[in-house]
Amino acid sequence: MSSLHGKKIVLGVSGSIAAYKSAILLRLLMKEGCDVRVIMTASASAFVSPLTFSTLSRNPVATDVHRDDEWTNHVEWGLWADAMIVAPATAHTLARCALGLASDMLTATYLSARCPVFFAPAMDLDMWDHPSTAENISRLQSYGNFIIDVGIGELSSGLSGPGRLAEPEEILSHLHDYFHYREDMNGLKVLVNAGPTYEAIDPVRYIGNHSTGKMGVAVAEEFAKRGAEVHLVLGPESVLPDNPHIQIERVTTADEMLAACMLQFLHADVAVLAAAVADYKPTRVADEKIKKGTEALTLELVPTPDIAASLGKLKKPGQRLIGFALETKDGEKHAREKMTRKNMDMIVLNNPRDNGAGFGHDTNKVSFLFPDNKEEHFELKSKRAVAHDIAQAVHQMIHANAKK
Ligand code: C5P
Repeated sequence: MSSLHGKKIVLGVSGSIAAYKSAILLRLLMKEGCDVRVIMTASASAFVSPLTFSTLSRNPVATDVHRDDEWTNHVEWGLWADAMIVAPATAHTLARCALGLASDMLTATYLSARCPVFFAPAMDLDMWDHPSTAENISRLQSYGNFIIDVGIGELSSGLSGPGRLAEPEEILSHLHDYFHYREDMNGLKVLVNAGPTYEAIDPVRYIGNHSTGKMGVAVAEEFAKRGAEVHLVLGPESVLPDNPHIQIERVTTADEMLAACMLQFLHADVAVLAAAVADYKPTRVADEKIKKGTEALTLELVPTPDIAASLGKLKKPGQRLIGFALETKDGEKHAREKMTRKNMDMIVLNNPRDNGAGFGHDTNKVSFLFPDNKEEHFELKSKRAVAHDIAQAVHQMIHANAKK
């Protein structure tokens, strides 16, 4: 049975030409067996008739909190819903929700809703690119709301770029995933590390690398979405997760990252080590800025601690350790050797030379290697989708063990 069967959904429609796509979304939700109540803003009703939505949903459509002497109880609607989805969400409606302006039924219900809220924005590309839209979106995310990415392509203005409403099937799959995967990792304690480390040379210079933390942050988001308690140890200049429930601990050096990870690993069930930890640090950090000279300068370096290997030594039965290997040559051989030496339960191998893989990209192409020689190879996909595959592999490991 669909994870959406019997779910009570409030569908908010705001005034964009893309409002016609909401009718298709509504059809899909009805086919899944959802009970849907639709709210339209005044300008949405100018694009598509409320009659279309009331006929398809078999429920009255709300447009105003009060009209003549009738009052629609937005609090009751907000509490009734298992999920609220605003599609299309215009720049104006995103701004009103971000600011808490309860100026109509849609926004008043949003403020009353205790359920997860999904926004599928739709607008012209310059409105989408405007800093205030970006600011409103980050605000909504910081409140724990979900934003469904806009599509890129032809827009009703004739311009082409980002701003298209996500396709109804894609919006449906977000809702489906939310209900399917939420809470299946409730109670699991997960440690993730991500980003680079910086090793100081003097007060102004350091040794670092190009890691952005995107892969590890996506892993942290995925586990948190599924109900796990996630502690993210994050290197400098990394991207930040959107999920406000993720506990973030900022560190700079490999030594700091090691100390943070060792402490957290004491009570973690799973550790996913995605950080690009510097392998060497200067033997000593100069107290003053090193002066430029004409002679060659030699820095003496010593190895940093290996965090994965240290956790591998501490690992107790039942704990799972997942690492990454970034290899350009003989990847599988080196990754297997690392997995064994560091006592990992799985290693995620990627090659920065594959198109779209490695540092900075939003995509990655990986293979999973396991100690029993099993392996899985994947196509290039978004880091979010790779994170989902990693979480699935961990889930299977835990459940396979529970059955033994
Ligand atoms: O040995 P290598 O750096 O290729 O191993 C990669 C894996 O080991 C990654 O999971 C990385 O986070 C981890 N690692 C570590 N501490 C280091 C170096 C790497 O935890 N000093």
